[in-house]
Amino acid sequence: MEKSLNYLILSTSPRLGGNSDTAARYVEQLLQAKGSGVFLNPSRKKINPCLGCNLCSRDGKCIQKDDMKEIYELLPKCNFLVLASPIYAMGLCAQAKALIDRMQPYWAQKYILKQREPTSPERKGLYLLTAGTNFNSVFTGAEITLKYLNNVLDIKEFITLGFKGVEGKGEIKKDPSNFEKIYDALRLLEVI
Ligand SMILES: Cc1cc2nc3c(=O)[nH]c(=O)nc-3n(C[C@H](O)[C@H](O)[C@H](O)COP(=O)(O)O)c2cc1C
Repeated sequence: MEKSLNYLILSTSPRLGGNSDTAARYVEQLLQAKGSGVFLNPSRKKINPCLGCNLCSRDGKCIQKDDMKEIYELLPKCNFLVLASPIYAMGLCAQAKALIDRMQPYWAQKYILKQREPTSPERKGLYLLTAGTNFNSVFTGAEITLKYLNNVLDIKEFITLGFKGVEGKGEIKKDPSNFEKIYDALRLLEVI
């Protein structure tokens, strides 16, 4: 990465030390040596769902006063976004979905207000998804939402890693190739 790495890791599972959180922590460990950034677990914060008031279309800002403020401050600065989520009911977990819905001010900035911070960096993304089953289409629902997120946040280069058949807490650790896949993805994205 040409510009200095400024990452934001959003580990959204309510199960701390679970599969997606373990994957996200591994990413943090690798990135720490390469740049600066923040690791957040929104499930331990107060992040309300979007109210659908559309007031962000007026000025590109959300009217809600909650912990999303922290993410709104970090996001514009970050040039590498990592989002980890378990699959719940064939999609992202509610915490991850609420977070993405609350990105609506960025959608409004881009499509309604036609404004973008001139300094906003080109972002890369890494998505880490974990599922208990081995269903073929288990990640499809989440991937559609993440494609939307890429558009809203101008993430041009991204990798989605889906880990199937990991049900129990920390089961992802049983197969070392899971961590190799994460390492390879970070290399491919040229962030390590
Ligand atoms: C409410 C709930 C819904 C789930 N729905 C699915 C599902 O639709 N498909 C699936 O493969 N696994 C499902 N699972 C299993 C989780 O995706 C799996 O245990 C995952 O590894 C959890 O990740 P975590 O440890 O990071 O929380 C579900 C688990 C919970 C608690």
